[in-house]
Amino acid sequence: MKVAPSILSANFGKLDEEIRAICEADCDFIHIDVMDGHFVPNHTIGPVVVEAVAKASTKPLDIHLMVQNNSFFVDMFAKFNPQYISFHIEEEKHPHRLIQKIKDYGIKPAIVLNPHTPPSSVEYLLEDLDMVLLMSVNPGFGGQKFISSVLKKAEVLKKMINENSLKTLIEVDGGVNDKNIKDLKEVGVDIVVAGSYVFSNSSYKNAISSLKV
Ligand code: DX5
Ligand code: ZN
Repeated sequence: MKVAPSILSANFGKLDEEIRAICEADCDFIHIDVMDGHFVPNHTIGPVVVEAVAKASTKPLDIHLMVQNNSFFVDMFAKFNPQYISFHIEEEKHPHRLIQKIKDYGIKPAIVLNPHTPPSSVEYLLEDLDMVLLMSVNPGFGGQKFISSVLKKAEVLKKMINENSLKTLIEVDGGVNDKNIKDLKEVGVDIVVAGSYVFSNSSYKNAISSLKV
């Protein structure tokens, strides 16, 4: 299992230090939650902060867009050279076009599904995606309770991926901790995002390694 700490739960008063600490604690990616106050009822990180994170990080960036007008934000963040940019299928009229745009920047495209959105919504996009991100909370805030129906959804999605001999990864985001990590592993999840679980632990190293099952 690969681990992507969400910096939403980091101490922004010492962000530089926090980024270095999770990199040293052997995380695999840095997950950055971009919220615009329209798609979700919260407003978070813009390009100034992402630039600072990119400078401090020795790990690849995983940018999760929770915005309206995805294309505008892809142009905004592409210059920081993230490994992944993921966008919500619920907010995109032309997902195939946006996937091509992300790829043209040399970035791996991913699509995010809210808790109610079925895996079939990405059926005809799957072969063009490097990753599908399944939300296990309603997007907008860190520290929420894990919605366990994501386990069934991950299982169905994994089956679709395997039946089509694809290499698309499955990432799960929200409420992940040492209690549900084994279930997530069992249904074939490849990467977990964890915010409050990692940053509330006095040892980032212990928290991250407890998720690397
Ligand atoms: C929620 C964000 C998550 C969140 C995860 O909208 O996408 O990345 O920060 O935080 P925890 O792990 O605390 O649920
Ligand atoms: Zn996220």
